Amino acid sequence: MPTTNSLDVISSLCKRRGFIFHSSEIYGGINGFWDYGPLGCEMKRNIKEDWWKTTVRNREDVAGLDATIIMHPAIWKASGHLDTFSDPMSTCKSCKKLMRADQVWDILADGEIGQGLAALIVGGVDAGKVAGWCKGKAKGLAPNLAAVRDADALTAAFEKIKADPAAYADAQALYVLLANAKGSQPAVTPCPYCGGELTEPRPFNLMFKTVVGPVDDPANVAYLRPETAQAIFAQFQNVQVTSRQQVPFGIAQMGKSFRNEVTPRNYTFRSREFEQMELEFFIRPDEAVELICGTVTTMADSPDLSVPQASWGWEVWHKYWVEQRKAWIQACGLPKDSFVEYWQKPEELAHYARACVDIEYSFPFGVQELEGIAARSDFDLTQHQKHSGKSMEVFDEPLKLAAAKLDEAAKAAFTAKVSAEWATRGKDAEAARAFVAKLFEGKYVPHVIEPSAGVDRMMLALLCNAYEEQKLTDEKGKEDVRVVMHFSPRIAPVKVAVFPLVKNKPEVYNKAREIFGHLRRRCAAFWDEGGAIGRRYRRQDEIGTPWCVTIDFQTLDDGTVTLRDRDTMQQERLTLDQLKAKLEEALL
Ligand code: GAP
Repeated sequence: MPTTNSLDVISSLCKRRGFIFHSSEIYGGINGFWDYGPLGCEMKRNIKEDWWKTTVRNREDVAGLDATIIMHPAIWKASGHLDTFSDPMSTCKSCKKLMRADQVWDILADGEIGQGLAALIVGGVDAGKVAGWCKGKAKGLAPNLAAVRDADALTAAFEKIKADPAAYADAQALYVLLANAKGSQPAVTPCPYCGGELTEPRPFNLMFKTVVGPVDDPANVAYLRPETAQAIFAQFQNVQVTSRQQVPFGIAQMGKSFRNEVTPRNYTFRSREFEQMELEFFIRPDEAVELICGTVTTMADSPDLSVPQASWGWEVWHKYWVEQRKAWIQACGLPKDSFVEYWQKPEELAHYARACVDIEYSFPFGVQELEGIAARSDFDLTQHQKHSGKSMEVFDEPLKLAAAKLDEAAKAAFTAKVSAEWATRGKDAEAARAFVAKLFEGKYVPHVIEPSAGVDRMMLALLCNAYEEQKLTDEKGKEDVRVVMHFSPRIAPVKVAVFPLVKNKPEVYNKAREIFGHLRRRCAAFWDEGGAIGRRYRRQDEIGTPWCVTIDFQTLDDGTVTLRDRDTMQQERLTLDQLKAKLEEALL
């Protein structure tokens, strides 16, 4: 498992069996938008419910929120999304296509031009073959490439390849040469669709704009949220007060987010409308931990991460949430070795972030981000405090009591220590002193750890992981291929399918309906009375139903049914009570 590297195989099964459809398909579809069909919406709901149960219901230190998609536009100014939530975008001066400047080489590699170039560099570049390609196939594929439309440019490229073939042994270098052989200054980035010249990248804000109210005026412009997180920060005080939580605690939210992605790609992986499951877990600043506990536990202390401790600093909380998220991903059915932790390098981090880990899954199109866990300091709450004029501080009784035990000399020493530490991070002494003075009053703006997951990405990873084509040979030696989706029972859209062995015997049929009625009250059950039992099993295997139950004549005699396991294909006879107990145990 999995036994396909092709997203086409997965997407065709999803369409055929009712997991995912292209949005507005009857009108030709709309790029970057997807609808979840009967099985897809059940599966998506299972993922979300499992996340909610694990993150909110099963914990005492997390409260929930369900905020609106459209919020006051000032939120996006404060969060930085209005000014910086953009992708660099280039336009082709010839074919006018728009694309993300950082995806040009991926688009090239995925398309026919990239495949043509890849074939040219196999076993070393040959100038003659490149010239042949430019005069032949490339005329249709990349008509605006300099070496295709200009004989002098082709001659210049030919000479350069002959002089130093090793320099053009990769597709990107070769394509750039064919666009620049005559020495264009500045060098042209060639369009991956036609070979024309791309414009310099310009920032393109990814937020969808809309107008609130009947007057289409700039003053009424609002935005569809590009993440669920900001509502949590904006409602921080309301949730904290009403839930009576004390730091450390979290606020969780899941729901739709919207990003006007320049190039949505890889099926549902990068969509324009998608769902997120986000937790903002608020923690004490390390300085407050130190005052309360006398020490701050860091990862250098090799702490036991199973039970949170008051002495944990931000670094340990961050690692704790990385581990919690990995455990959930595994519990949903992704094997441990199918995903990796990518720790962003210091130069990749946002200026306010202290650490960020991407959990990356090995999708058929490459190893890509499934979700992220960021340590975001007090940046978000401080920004909203500044922009709204409303305090985001909390009062922490144990902190005030701890500070009250310090004499003036100890307070001065602590202030000096914090100022010196802040100075190493480029923060001024005045700000450090004001921060410590607040700490002595028991007040601070909490810091936050943010595990942020995408429902659609998780579902895509589970679909890719579950797919298997098994070659089977029956008793008569006949070979066959069984397509089976190995979903974990807690995520599978249908948990149990119920079949009457025959549909023309009322006693068997009615007994089967009665048992179906019992099961569907407990879990998602599916009724199928059509065709041979073997074919019915295959239909359920293809949608990942873990168990099939057949009611036959023996059921009428002794009340037992046949339970067939999807993965082992083994069958056993169970009473109805045994069956219910087995399902309950597996689905808990
Ligand atoms: N609040 C932090 C935040 O939104 P992000 O890395 O931009 O961080 C978090 O998004 C997660 O949301 C991603 O790891 C991914 O699972 C999902 N996501 C982001 N953009 C997406 C898109 N265009 N389509 C599908 N899922 C997306």
